[in-house]
Amino acid sequence: MSIPTWLFIISLALRIHSVQPGKCPKSCMCDTIKLTVACVNKNLTEVPPTIDEITVKLDLRGNDLQELPTEAFSGTPYLTQLSLQNSNIRRVKEGAFRKLGRLVILNLSNNNIEILYQESFDGLSSLKQLLIDRNRVEEIQPGAFSQLGFLNLLSITHNQLVYMPNLAFQGLQNIKWLRLSHNSLNYLEIEAFAGLFTLTRLSLDNNALQFFPTETMTRLPEVTRLDLGYNPMTYLGEESVSMPKLTQLFLDHNSLQDFSNAAILLSPRLSHLDLSHNQLRVLQPMAPGSPKLTRLNLASNPIYCSCYLRPLREWAIRERIRLTGTCGGPTHLSGENLGAVLPAELRCQSQEAMMKAELEELRRLPTLPTTPPPDKVKCPVNCDCEAQNNHSSCENKGHTKIPRGFAPNTRLLDLRGNHFHYIPANSFPGTAEVVSLHLQRCKIHDVEDGAFTGMKSLVYLYLSENDLTSLSPDAFKGLPHLTYLHLEKNRFTQFPKGAFKLLPGLLALHMENNAITKLEAGILTGAEKLRGLYLTSNAITTIAPKAFDPAPDLDTLHLGNNKLNEVQSETFSKAQSLTELHLSRNPIRWIGAGVFQPVATTLKHLYLDHMGLEKMSRESLAGFGSGLRSLLLEGNQLEELPDLSPLSGLEVINLAENPLLCDCPLLPLRKWIEQVNLKVRATCGHPPELRGQRVKDVHVFKSCPGENPPPAQNPKITKPTKRTVSAQISPSKVTKIVQAKGQTRTNAKPHTLQKTTTKKRKSV
Ligand SMILES: *[C@@H]1O[C@H](CO)[C@@H](O)[C@H](O)[C@H]1NC(C)=O
Ligand SMILES: *[C@@H]1O[C@H](CO)[C@@H](O)[C@H](O)[C@H]1NC(C)=O
Ligand SMILES: *[C@@H]1O[C@H](CO)[C@@H](O)[C@H](O)[C@H]1NC(C)=O
Repeated sequence: MSIPTWLFIISLALRIHSVQPGKCPKSCMCDTIKLTVACVNKNLTEVPPTIDEITVKLDLRGNDLQELPTEAFSGTPYLTQLSLQNSNIRRVKEGAFRKLGRLVILNLSNNNIEILYQESFDGLSSLKQLLIDRNRVEEIQPGAFSQLGFLNLLSITHNQLVYMPNLAFQGLQNIKWLRLSHNSLNYLEIEAFAGLFTLTRLSLDNNALQFFPTETMTRLPEVTRLDLGYNPMTYLGEESVSMPKLTQLFLDHNSLQDFSNAAILLSPRLSHLDLSHNQLRVLQPMAPGSPKLTRLNLASNPIYCSCYLRPLREWAIRERIRLTGTCGGPTHLSGENLGAVLPAELRCQSQEAMMKAELEELRRLPTLPTTPPPDKVKCPVNCDCEAQNNHSSCENKGHTKIPRGFAPNTRLLDLRGNHFHYIPANSFPGTAEVVSLHLQRCKIHDVEDGAFTGMKSLVYLYLSENDLTSLSPDAFKGLPHLTYLHLEKNRFTQFPKGAFKLLPGLLALHMENNAITKLEAGILTGAEKLRGLYLTSNAITTIAPKAFDPAPDLDTLHLGNNKLNEVQSETFSKAQSLTELHLSRNPIRWIGAGVFQPVATTLKHLYLDHMGLEKMSRESLAGFGSGLRSLLLEGNQLEELPDLSPLSGLEVINLAENPLLCDCPLLPLRKWIEQVNLKVRATCGHPPELRGQRVKDVHVFKSCPGENPPPAQNPKITKPTKRTVSAQISPSKVTKIVQAKGQTRTNAKPHTLQKTTTKKRKSV
């Protein structure tokens, strides 16, 4: 090696390691080529004043800085990267970083900062990444980030944020990803994220959001990925998610028991939905018009693989959706992959068999490997309380009195299968956070006035399978947010009139399998928001004309398997939002003209099957048009049918098991069947020689007048019909109908419920 080369190497080495005593502060390492200074883990109490002005990278991790004063770094204006982690910083004074106009990355993680002041970050006009993770931030003052017009990433995870005020992030004109995971956020003001027009990803996982913040999220036009895992949400209502560009939505590890099939209707680009680790037992296919999902994750939900799951499975197959998750029951399907179960295997057994199967499952449960030892949590004797998800259960433990002393943050309280016999007043002190209360199969025959007083957060109340015969009007005192009430399988002989006047937020009332004989006027007084009324399998013989009047939003009415022998148009005269009506299995022999007229423009699904129906007036479907999507008439005694051609929006029709008379009067039906692209299932019952043949296949109609109709004779079934049918059955049309309907229903649930959280938020 030549001497000059030697000299060069030596000089290089010297330069790299030369610690220029004048310029490099004591206890720091300085690299004068890379222009970096590192003073790491030195317990420094202030920023060393003698750092070389041309330094670009300054590492001050592991010191004891306590407070960053105004212009703390004014001596080093060329910094591009500043590391201040683990330095016991409590306070960043206004203008602390002023003069750092070239800084690109600022890391303040692992300190003790509590408040982000209005001018804390002034002067950082080139900053791209700001990391304030693992501090104690509980307040962001308005304008804190207003000078950070180039910021791409803002990360404030693992802090103590509870409440997000309006315009908290104003000025972040180039923000791409905002990370707020691992805080205690329970309330986001509507304009909390206003102005973030470039944000594409928002992380809000591991917070305390009880409801999907619908309105707040609609202010985020460009977000494609939203993380809301590990929050305590219990349901998502209709049209909860309205985000135009969202493609991925994570709602894993919540406490979802209910996910509306119209929840994502207004997020047209959503393709990936994660609902894993929730409490869903069943899920409906997403409503027509919903986005085209490619992946749906249902792992670790107690999905019950019965006939109720079949529509979901069929939908997933049809739409080629990758379905993840396994069946939680019944026993013979337990553990099967949802994506592998065939729709035909999803069957419903008799009620008893199902209950037996469920009981067996419950018995099996304790033998399953138990998850990590539960954290210590307040819990009454003979109960199991899990701190992790705030669930407390005393299910099937032979309690005769309602146990007391649950942890105050209990959210789900399961008391199923005990022997309480009655519920005295004030039975649930200190349970203001409980959202879901299970009291099924507890032999309850009486609920005293004020039994549930104080359960301010209760949304779901299950009193099914008890011995209730009546309820006092004050039984539900103090339940301002009760939304879903289950009273099925009790012994009511009368509708518990007046009992719902204290439940202004009630959306769904289940009273199936009781012995109610009549529905009188005023039964729904107070339940003004009611949307679903379920009365299947009672003994109802009469319905008073104004029975459903005070519920203008009623959209689902199940009256199947009762003893009605007629329907009258006055019954539904005020039910102007009704979309689904079940009258199956009532002994109704005849349906007169215009009976459904008051609801014909809103009704989408009409169930008239298995009624022994012998005749429908020609005008019995008067008023129905393209809005009706299903009509079920199977299992009746119909020989003839009214004209179905105005029903151009039908997607499902069932005429099976009717003894149709295959002769000329049936020609319009035959022609209609030929024209629509639907499985109609119509077979001839008469004359005897044609019995069992499909209406579509028989030839008797050839000789009927009108088969080649003279123009005037049968205007309804000629060519125009075909056009109407094919035009109106297109999916886009259906979508529009659904959306139009959707817009009129505002999202009642979250609105009423968010009010509570407002109260709870910490004042800032
Ligand atoms: C910093 O302070 C801690 C605790 O006071 C001490 O244990 C440690 O040795 C100090 N480190 C230096 C480099 O002085
Ligand atoms: C910021 O500091 C934290 C804690 O030391 C570290 O984990 C993280 O990687 C740093 N981020 C950047 C971008 O420097
Ligand atoms: C349980 O309650 C605690 C305290 O209120 C809360 O911090 C935690 O997030 C809750 N967990 C769930 C899963 O709701």
